[in-house]
Amino acid sequence: MKFFIDTANLKEIEEAHRLGILDGVTTNPSLIAKEGVVGRDAFVRHIKAVCDLVGAPVSAEAVSTAAEDLVSEARELAAIDENVVVKIPMTIEGLKAVRQLADEGVRTNVTLVFSPLQALMAAKAGASYVSPFVGRLDDIAHVGMEVVSEIVDIFSNYLFETEIIVASVRNPLHVLEAAKMGADIATIPFKVIGQMARHPLTDLGLDAFLKDWKKVETR
Ligand code: E4P
Repeated sequence: MKFFIDTANLKEIEEAHRLGILDGVTTNPSLIAKEGVVGRDAFVRHIKAVCDLVGAPVSAEAVSTAAEDLVSEARELAAIDENVVVKIPMTIEGLKAVRQLADEGVRTNVTLVFSPLQALMAAKAGASYVSPFVGRLDDIAHVGMEVVSEIVDIFSNYLFETEIIVASVRNPLHVLEAAKMGADIATIPFKVIGQMARHPLTDLGLDAFLKDWKKVETR
């Protein structure tokens, strides 16, 4: 299973990269805005900096709405770095853009996916990745991970190569369930990566070992 980090914060990306577990990065307009990036040039520089840090797939989101505009914007984003994957919204116009971009060899990540049928349509249109948003479904009392499970089954029934990115991850259990279901990727906030690594028994055990080792050293 691949781990992406869901952030545009360079420090968080660098720290996760140093853990040796990072396979990619996803960003979105809200995450970019949170970093105080202002203007198109600054956005392009920021995405380039992320690509240089990780040398792995980095999702950058297109913000146009019409298919032709999405395609032009996606071409520009893809030209930033060979690792850029263009996020395209799961709309009718988005699907048209995904097909055109797939034919041109531009990789896409279809975002804002909330149902298995949306994921199936994105895969058929040629998406490289689909991103079901599990946390936002949980927020409205739909079980997000059930949608992921259905997508895993459908993609496996028809041998789609489109990879499933479990997105809008809110806690370690989302990642655990994604791994058990065989989802390809989870894109995880920095805080949740820390939560996944820590265990109170590890801390207690280490504390005891270090205390006992002091006795050994002082004898
Ligand atoms: C994924 O690509 C999205 O950027 C992200 O997971 C959205 O998460 P949120 O629902 O916490 O905003």
